[in-house]
Amino acid sequence: MSDLPIEEIRKLFAFTRVYLDQQHELFGPSLPDLMTSPEISAEAREKARLLDEFQASFSACQNCKLGKTRKNLVFGSGNPNAKLLVIGEGPGADEDETGYPFVGRAGQLLTAILKAIQFTRQDVYIANIVKCRPPQNRKPEPDEVAECMPYLKNQIRIIRPAIILALGATAANTLLNNTDSLGSMRGKIHTFEGTPLIVTYHPAALLRNPNYKPDTWQDVQFLRKQYDLLVR
Ligand code: URA
Repeated sequence: MSDLPIEEIRKLFAFTRVYLDQQHELFGPSLPDLMTSPEISAEAREKARLLDEFQASFSACQNCKLGKTRKNLVFGSGNPNAKLLVIGEGPGADEDETGYPFVGRAGQLLTAILKAIQFTRQDVYIANIVKCRPPQNRKPEPDEVAECMPYLKNQIRIIRPAIILALGATAANTLLNNTDSLGSMRGKIHTFEGTPLIVTYHPAALLRNPNYKPDTWQDVQFLRKQYDLLVR
């Protein structure tokens, strides 16, 4: 028998469950082999290959101090050929534990928000400004963001989304290179390196303050409209 304490075993089961639920959400009841399934286009296959190769190239990254405290680098997940790219701030404890973005409470809320505008997690790709968890969930520091942004930029070049949704001020300020308030960035179409970008509240902010929900609903409906205009 394992020497793991019962709490650790419980945690392991909980994370396996989150992971399997996420795979189910992404791929449906049977997991297709991404590289051989006939429903997957050659373009998607190539993007998946490039993302895998890119992920492997910096899986042991120690370019900033977050490398020393992380458990898992959280590269990003979802459809490599997604036309909608969702970008958050950085991994929290659950993401650090599993290696997947937005799998904790904020992630469950994000999944529900996407569902409300007819997206599954299989339709979109999800990544973060920084790929390693800042200790105590503090905001990523400028040097950490500066080291990690080239990774995200390359990821975006591979995926080539039609539109980006930035979640929260950290993601929006970083991608738009400004210090504007979240409120002032909402309801507009910005661009990131030529790709249209829309801003809304971070789901963790919604968990703390449900008063942001009506504005978020307005933002994601605006996002859906723009997506439908761009992706036909
Ligand atoms: N918050 C984020 O910004 N990203 C995650 O992946 C999880 C929580």
